[in-house]
Amino acid sequence: NKGSFEHYMQKEIHEQPESLTTTMRGRLIRGGSSKGKNVLLGGLKDHLMSIRRSRRFLFIGCGTSYNAALAARPILEELSGIPVTMEIASDLLDRRGPVYREDTAVFVSQSGETADTLNALEYALDNGALCVGITNAVGSAIARKTHCGVHINAGCEIGVASTKAYTSQIVAMAMLALAIGGDTISNQARRDAIIDGLFDLPNKVREVLKLDQEMKDLAEQLVAEQSLLMFGRGYNYATALEGALKVKEVALMHTEGMLAGEMKHGPLALVDENLPIVVIATRDSCFSKQQSVIQQLHARKGRLIVMCNRGDAASVCPGEATRLIEVPQVEDCLQPVINIVPLQLLAYHLTVLRGYNVDQPRNLAKSVTTE
Ligand code: UD1
Ligand code: BG6
Repeated sequence: NKGSFEHYMQKEIHEQPESLTTTMRGRLIRGGSSKGKNVLLGGLKDHLMSIRRSRRFLFIGCGTSYNAALAARPILEELSGIPVTMEIASDLLDRRGPVYREDTAVFVSQSGETADTLNALEYALDNGALCVGITNAVGSAIARKTHCGVHINAGCEIGVASTKAYTSQIVAMAMLALAIGGDTISNQARRDAIIDGLFDLPNKVREVLKLDQEMKDLAEQLVAEQSLLMFGRGYNYATALEGALKVKEVALMHTEGMLAGEMKHGPLALVDENLPIVVIATRDSCFSKQQSVIQQLHARKGRLIVMCNRGDAASVCPGEATRLIEVPQVEDCLQPVINIVPLQLLAYHLTVLRGYNVDQPRNLAKSVTTE
């Protein structure tokens, strides 16, 4: 049921304050005078000790689910101190990459039925790794075959382009990082700040959704473009990849998400006064590096669209022609949840304006069950 919305994708974008609330329901402990703030993931409690003892985490998924894992990687590394390796499921299988008994392999899948991810799971099970699922569909193959896991509880997602599952996956993996890092005192203040940030996140998503009309206006400006670049780094490298994936899969416009740190190693050659470039420059430890990326793109007459936190316009705006997307600020590791929303809206409006099928993009399927 689409309710008052015209498309499922539109409905699913706008229901993210609610889907995120259900993802967190019953799993966050606010703390009090005697008890500290905490995260409780029922599906992991019997395995948490072995997870903490693992030598390495492998994050395995496809498409949007891979991007969500990429967004959660830095906070898992920070809170656990354990290295995290990213694997596209098909590529792990193509290489038969080494997987060990001391590894924890985390399988991220909305449907829980994606063939590549499922085959990678069989492979990791054969190699003796502890296998954890981050899934939306209860009773799905990946949920059943993993040793343990977390249901993201985002509710049924119908649009082929994943939106609300993406943000719920990031939140579920941030909670996973909090649960794993929960045995050390040294990061308690950081963990408390993230837990407070999670409580407030649905409200912040509600605020960023107010950019809908602004993103429609931006889509009108970009509707006839051939291609689009998106630069991000740190927590928001994933935002650049996922924003680009949204635009290419539904609006059928060539869009590339790129690591800003790689800009000078090739992509800079593409920059001219015609190609529109989205730069994500919200506040985190990479902010000053993104400021210099903006300066360098501006110096080459790049057509810039800068995403920044409210109040930062003057710090990121090199010229009058720069277009801004101003978003509310949240805890750095949760900022990808906020930052993807305007890009989802942009992809949606571009698709409608270009006259393409929003919920069933050409040649794509919601769940790819053959290799
Ligand atoms: C569970 C119940 C929830 C109930 C709550 C009350 C289910 C599906 N969930 O939620 O309805 O309100 O207890 O305490 O009945 N799992 C995997 N792989 C996955 C995902 C999950 O193995 O990819 C396993 C988990 O390890 C766990 C079970 O499935 O054993 C349920 O997981 P989850 O729904 O996340 O657990 P709870 O949040 O505790
Ligand atoms: C398909 C979908 O390609 O599978 C994508 O069109 C999705 O939206 C990808 O991200 C992975 O699916 P899942 O269900 O494993 O998360």
